[in-house]
Amino acid sequence: MNLTLKVWRQANPQAKGKMETYNIKEVSPDMSFLEMMDVLNEQLMAQEIDPIAFDHDCREGICGMCSMFINGEAHGPDRLVTTCQLHMRKFKDGDTITIEPFRAKAFPVIKDLTVDRSSFDRVQQAGGFVSVNTSGNTQDANAIPIDKHDADKAFDAATCIGCGACVATCKNASAMLFVSAKVSQYALLPQGKVEATDRVLNMVKQMDEEGFGNCTNTGACEVECPKGISLENIARMNREYLSASLKG
Ligand code: SF4
Ligand code: FES
Repeated sequence: MNLTLKVWRQANPQAKGKMETYNIKEVSPDMSFLEMMDVLNEQLMAQEIDPIAFDHDCREGICGMCSMFINGEAHGPDRLVTTCQLHMRKFKDGDTITIEPFRAKAFPVIKDLTVDRSSFDRVQQAGGFVSVNTSGNTQDANAIPIDKHDADKAFDAATCIGCGACVATCKNASAMLFVSAKVSQYALLPQGKVEATDRVLNMVKQMDEEGFGNCTNTGACEVECPKGISLENIARMNREYLSASLKG
């Protein structure tokens, strides 16, 4: 396939970015989107042009690093896949593809397609954990029976990879789907109940301080989430937040 790529280039956080156009030839439909980007970068380096900076790590849908907005959609046109799992067979010979970074006030651009998502780390650090008290009498986790239904829902919430597609997709740049997944993965389990009140209050406070927008129930986040995180988690987080606020 021969393709035209329109890519966002921005030298640093302060620079004014712009779209640049590149042509790329003989792209195999079996390549992943990131492999196609690797080929483009080799081509650019051969021409002594600065290669395009983009985040990636696992390249198998686990780490959540490969944040790209492709043809106006976070992680591109496929569903339930990350950019690294997107294959070039989803495009046609002669296509023009636009590639931009995830855009949100809380995700400032570092360079080209790379954004700073440390705001997610700070939300997580505010309460997305269970403290382990090593008293010597710690109970084996498997000794506590957990309803299969709850265990499955907690597991589904825990599959959030923190990619930020929900924020990039939301017209309000809301992080509610991400934060609700991180709250829900503990809220459904007995291990998470001990710190539940502080967790939800602190995580929501941090989310607001980072400059994420409010949720207006458009549901776009759920559609674009590569892990199929359900809006049900946002409803659960709202219930947890109300109950914690009343206790507080
Ligand atoms: S909820 Fe989905 S889209 Fe949002 S960070 Fe988690 S995996 Fe990514
Ligand atoms: S590179 Fe890890 S999820 Fe895409």
